[in-house]
Amino acid sequence: MENREELTRQLEYIDKLKDTVRRLIDVYGRVPKCAVVTFGCQMNARDSEKISGVLSEAGFDITGQENDCDLVIYNTCTVRDNANKRVYGHLGTLKAAKKNKPGLKIVICGCMMQEQSVIENISKNYKFVDLVFGTHNIYKFAELLYRMYEEADSQIIDIWESTDDYVEDLPIERKYKYKSGVNIMYGCNNFCTYCIVPYVRGRERSRDAKEIIREIERLTDDGVIEVMLLGQNVNSYGKGLDNGLNFSQLLKEVEKVDGIKRIRFMTSHPKDLSDELIYTMAESDKICKHIHLPLQSGSDRILKDMNRHYTKESYIKLADKIRNTIPDIAITTDIIIGFPGETEADVNDTIDVVKHVEYDNAFTFIYSKRTGTPAAARPDQVDEAFAKVQFDRVLDAVRECASKRNKSLVGSVQEALVESLSDNDPSMVTGRLSNNSMVHFKGDSNLIGTIVPVNLHTAGGFYYIGDMV
Ligand code: 5AD
Ligand code: SF4
Repeated sequence: MENREELTRQLEYIDKLKDTVRRLIDVYGRVPKCAVVTFGCQMNARDSEKISGVLSEAGFDITGQENDCDLVIYNTCTVRDNANKRVYGHLGTLKAAKKNKPGLKIVICGCMMQEQSVIENISKNYKFVDLVFGTHNIYKFAELLYRMYEEADSQIIDIWESTDDYVEDLPIERKYKYKSGVNIMYGCNNFCTYCIVPYVRGRERSRDAKEIIREIERLTDDGVIEVMLLGQNVNSYGKGLDNGLNFSQLLKEVEKVDGIKRIRFMTSHPKDLSDELIYTMAESDKICKHIHLPLQSGSDRILKDMNRHYTKESYIKLADKIRNTIPDIAITTDIIIGFPGETEADVNDTIDVVKHVEYDNAFTFIYSKRTGTPAAARPDQVDEAFAKVQFDRVLDAVRECASKRNKSLVGSVQEALVESLSDNDPSMVTGRLSNNSMVHFKGDSNLIGTIVPVNLHTAGGFYYIGDMV
């Protein structure tokens, strides 16, 4: 439930933090600088905007760099082990930095902190970390940060098992002026057997549609024209809400918001994707022609062991229906290779699906054993070298069909939302097409945040080169 009382409390703590910042200015002779470092997915990126919002409102300079700041915040991910390793690597560097600069404050939060083993490790071996909190109490960031500065020499650790509450309307500092993520639900109930997310993000909770629309309307007042609706499984949006809307109905409400020109969403679980959603997408001018539809595996046996609730055949049927109903749609996916018990024959099934669906892009991951998940307890973990060989086979198949798909729009004129100047040529800008492909074309910074027609004349690997029409 949305908790308005807590909102008032946290706003009071932001006011108190303003005094803290004034005190720090006296000490440093300048505004304290902080850096928010984000690991992981779009959800985490959105959480970091919430953290930055509090910091900015309190008066911190949020443009600091990791190696040159007074306060650093790591918003962590734990979906795969290499994400954890990276965080520990960064912490090692910070330990040395803090020796030279004792006033440096270090905060870590996010999914990794919801694992008990991590907390034990940090409280024992990383005592120089000043504040640790988790995913469920992120809305208490202002209060926790205030306490951290008040109780200067002790490590504060505040981790909750779960929560039914969420607090909206705290200040948010968006990374982009013209686009924004919007959480429509939190948590996940699917318990795919490899995945740690349900354990660290808790049970699925949908936000009330009216609150979501109100947030989007406010975003448009502030210049946003593209929203990305965020949830671990957006297709099950609304379950558990009294008289709530389903996901298609929610999309139709979002479409009615005047200032919104483009709508994206992430992520769709294949088992819950309805025909209604496909028709809603087909009929809409605003919903982008892109769907991210994680396959994970093409083998029925592995899919069953993963607890995914679909088969190779039903997935292919679904993808066909989407391609046939929505011409020009881009389909992207996630694939895991090396799940316990996986054989070459299973991977062949995955490659079959890749070739059949012709993904526009796919994120491929080597299975990572996550403590506490059912798959981690299995005795038939696969050999690393074998997984690597299979991974390369899948990647080859993905590259082949993606490069074929990525030529499909050459010669056509498409609308692009200009996102930035091009990295390697300041006389060019980079825009995003409805299907999520990028396009580079001549233009200047005045175009950023506008939608313009572009003639796509050349295809590169995962991008196009074009001319504004
Ligand atoms: N190992 C490898 N990949 C994983 N993913 C989730 N859990 C694991 C894991 N244990 C991948 C899935 C998911 C994406 C976000 O991360 O493909 O869709
Ligand atoms: Fe993890 Fe499956 Fe939930 Fe996605 S749907 S977050 S893979 S448990």
